Amino acid sequence: MAENEEEKDTTKKYPAVALYGPCTVKNLREGDTKLWCACGLSKSQPWCDGSHKGTGIKPLKWTVPKAQSLYQICACKYTRDPPYCDATHTNLP
Ligand code: FES
Repeated sequence: MAENEEEKDTTKKYPAVALYGPCTVKNLREGDTKLWCACGLSKSQPWCDGSHKGTGIKPLKWTVPKAQSLYQICACKYTRDPPYCDATHTNLP
């Protein structure tokens, strides 16, 4: 599929579950920009590696709000508060 055709595809898609739990991410710097994988296909969870191409799902651009020792970042991809884990993974089938 050509790149412009991919962008026109508005079919509702659902993400794959990468992990039934969060990724614990350490040592992020305040103000850093990350692309959170929303499709669940990235091999670099929880971040986007471009594997979403052709899925109709795009990554979420996230700016680290403050330096802290760790963040719990959603890897099931069904959080209601992306990119943060909200424990939705505990209710997935
Ligand atoms: S690889 Fe999943 S959104 Fe980019």
